[in-house]
Amino acid sequence: MKKKRILVTGGAGYIGSHTIVDLIESGYEVVSADNFHNARPETFAGIRAITGVEVKNYAIDLADSRAAAAMFAREEFDGAIHFAAYKLVGESVEKPLAYFRNNLNSLLNVMEGLRSQGSSNLVFSSSCSVYGNARELPVTEATPRQEAESPYARTKQMGEDIIFDFCRANPYCRATILRYFNPAGAHESGKIGEDPANSPSNLVPVITAVAAGKLEKLTVFGDDYPTRDGSCVRDYIHVMDLARAHTLALRHMLEDKVPNNPEVFNLGIGEGLTVLEVIDAFERVSGVKLNYEIGPRRPGDVVAVYADRTRAAIELGWTPERGVEDIMATAWAWEKQLGKG
Ligand code: WQD
Repeated sequence: MKKKRILVTGGAGYIGSHTIVDLIESGYEVVSADNFHNARPETFAGIRAITGVEVKNYAIDLADSRAAAAMFAREEFDGAIHFAAYKLVGESVEKPLAYFRNNLNSLLNVMEGLRSQGSSNLVFSSSCSVYGNARELPVTEATPRQEAESPYARTKQMGEDIIFDFCRANPYCRATILRYFNPAGAHESGKIGEDPANSPSNLVPVITAVAAGKLEKLTVFGDDYPTRDGSCVRDYIHVMDLARAHTLALRHMLEDKVPNNPEVFNLGIGEGLTVLEVIDAFERVSGVKLNYEIGPRRPGDVVAVYADRTRAAIELGWTPERGVEDIMATAWAWEKQLGKG
């Protein structure tokens, strides 16, 4: 049987690269589109080392409608997973127009491209940040979205709305919206992981950077929240479990009879961990004592958020297989091999 061909935008990025590995290992052919805005071409060497496959990449800016259309004129796709986007919450507050221009135009161009091929089959990277300050926990897909806390989060809300409107107007539309909680960890091989190009700001990359001596210390942003130990609660999901969910969502769309409405899935482990519990897990797994101090709260942080993942379990058959210790072991292995490079 001919392999299904999937466009992965942002294929050199963190979640994109791990998803490509899972797609290839699941029998899909992948074409990537990534202009290396916040990723490195070497990631494709890592993917090749794991899978034996050299992934074809279009180093184009997907927000450029002509460049995107030219790619869709040359390639036929059975579906697309659209990761490519700016994702720094703080930066989005400083540069809202850049975030709207990039994140919305690239989505529109990918959707136009799929439409020009008479299909849709789109998987869209959304985020738990669309829930804003959720009023109930755990968050289900039916939990109402609140006001976005940042332009970044608003681009994700607007992206979801664009997809909903498109599917309402086009009976052939098939789309899946995946709302990620806190992705972390790396591929078990240590050959791909989170890109080191930017100075880390997310918790797990900061932890491993401190342990590796690249940063002096970790500041825990607040220990006076109404939680078990006073630090914030999040739902940390291993990036390879997340990758698996994309393959399952794509297969579900291509092979099962799904309704033409976009389907929405929360992708989290379904449990909340505090910042101090995450630090403790790292110290246990690595045997490294982490240099950290308690600091003030970070503006914009919600107290607690974690997923109800029942829907992805029932509809996609998705069960995360890795826990926080696997996250820490793989993130630490990745950090250590970066040091050798
Ligand atoms: C996790 C916890 C911090 C760093 C954001 C986006 C979300 C998603 C992932 C996409 C919080 C604490 C962190 C540090 C700390 N999006 N922390 N010291 O804020 O939950 O989610 O990133 O790309 O949309 O909102 O993730 O990793 O920054 O923080 O104490 O140096 O760790 O306060 O409680 P967050 P995070």
